[in-house]
Amino acid sequence: MKAHKNLILGIESSCDETAAAVVADGRSVLSNIVASQIAIHRDFGGVVPELASREHLRQIVPVVREALKQAGILLSDLDAIAVTRGPGLIGALLVGVTYGKVLALALDKPLIAVNHLEGHVHAVLLEAATTDRQPVFPALCLIVSGGHTVLYGVECAWKNGTSHFSYSRIGGTRDDAAGEAYDKVARMLALGYPGGPIIDRLAEHGNPKAMRFGAPQMKGNTYDFSFSGIKTAVLYHLRKHPEFQPEIVAREQALAHGERSAEALRHLSRPATLDLLASFQRAVVEDLVTRTLAAASHQGVRSIFVSGGVAANRELRTTFESQAKRDGLQVFFPSRALSTDNAAMIAAAGYPRFMEGQHEDCTLDPVANLPLA
Ligand code: KG4
Ligand code: ZN
Repeated sequence: MKAHKNLILGIESSCDETAAAVVADGRSVLSNIVASQIAIHRDFGGVVPELASREHLRQIVPVVREALKQAGILLSDLDAIAVTRGPGLIGALLVGVTYGKVLALALDKPLIAVNHLEGHVHAVLLEAATTDRQPVFPALCLIVSGGHTVLYGVECAWKNGTSHFSYSRIGGTRDDAAGEAYDKVARMLALGYPGGPIIDRLAEHGNPKAMRFGAPQMKGNTYDFSFSGIKTAVLYHLRKHPEFQPEIVAREQALAHGERSAEALRHLSRPATLDLLASFQRAVVEDLVTRTLAAASHQGVRSIFVSGGVAANRELRTTFESQAKRDGLQVFFPSRALSTDNAAMIAAAGYPRFMEGQHEDCTLDPVANLPLA
C-alpha cells in the first residue's frame, strides 16, 4: 500500500539542469535530484545548446532512477509523469519531453505538460507548504533567472475540489534577463560562471554607493525591465579605467588553475572592483524591487512571490523583505534549492492539471517560446 495518494514524477530539462523529482499530493517533496551542467558550460561563459542536449541525454536515465530510489518507490507506484514543455532550449526540452512521453506510454500513466515558468511559481508554493505562513491570492510573482525576468499576476480559484491557477503577464525584460547581466558582468571581470553567486558574495565587501547607474527609463509599460544598460555601463567603466586589467588577468589565471572560490577571487580584487560589483548589484536589486512593488501596488495584491536563480541573492531577499514590510506586503521565496531549476516545482505545477484530467498524448511537442499568459 502506498502512503500517499498521488505520486507525480517531475522531469525538467529546459536549460542546463537535468532534473527529476517525486512529489506527493502536489506538496510533499519525496526526492529532488538535479544534475547540473555548470562544469561543462563554464569554459564558454554561458550555456552551449548542443552540449546541453548531449548532457541531458547522458543524465536523464540515472537522474530519474535516483529520484525514484530516494523517494523509495518503483516506477509502477507513480500516478503521473509531469514534464517541462517549454520555454527553453528546444534540443534540451526535446530530451525531457521524449523521455516523459515514452515513460508514460510504457507505464500507461497520464502525461502532464508543464510550463517551466509555472514551475517557478509552484516552487514558492512548495516552500510555503512547509510553513504555517500562507500566501493570499491574487499574488504577484517575479521570476528572475538567467533566462527570464518577468512579472505575472497569479490567481488561485477552488474548483471541483482542486486549486486552479491562472496567470496574467504584467511586465518583463526587454533585453537581458537579470541573471544574464550578472553572468556577463562576471565574465567581463573574470569572476567565473555562473556570475550571480560570486557577485553576491563579493558585493558585500564593496561600497554600493561608489558608482551610480541611472534606473532605466521605460517608455510604455513601466513594469518592464531592462538590464543591458547597466551591463554596458560596467563595460564602459572598465574600458575607461585600464587599471582594472592586471587583476582581471590575475583572476583569469586563477580560474584557469581551477581556483574559483569567493575568498580566492576576493583576494585578487582591488577595493575599486568590489565597489563596482556592490554598485552593480545595488542597481539591479533596486530596479527589481522598485518595479515589482509598484506593480504590486497597482494590482492591489497582498502577496509577492520571488522565484528563479537570482531569487537566491541575499541582497535581493533582504531588500524585498524590508521594503515589502513597509508597504504591508508579504514576500515569499523558495528555499535556495527550489529557487534554481529543479523538477519538484514541475511535479507540483503538474498536480492541479493532473487533478483536472488535463492529460497529453504522445503527440506532445516541446515549444521553445511557450507563453504562460
Ligand atoms: O533559475 P536558474 O538556475 O536557471 C535559469 O536561468 O533558468 O538561474 C541561473 C541564474 C544564473 O544567471 C545565475 O548567475 C543566477 O541565476 N544566480 C544568482 C545567484 N545564484 C544564481 N544571481 C544573483 N545572486 C545569486 N545568489
Ligand atoms: Zn528556470
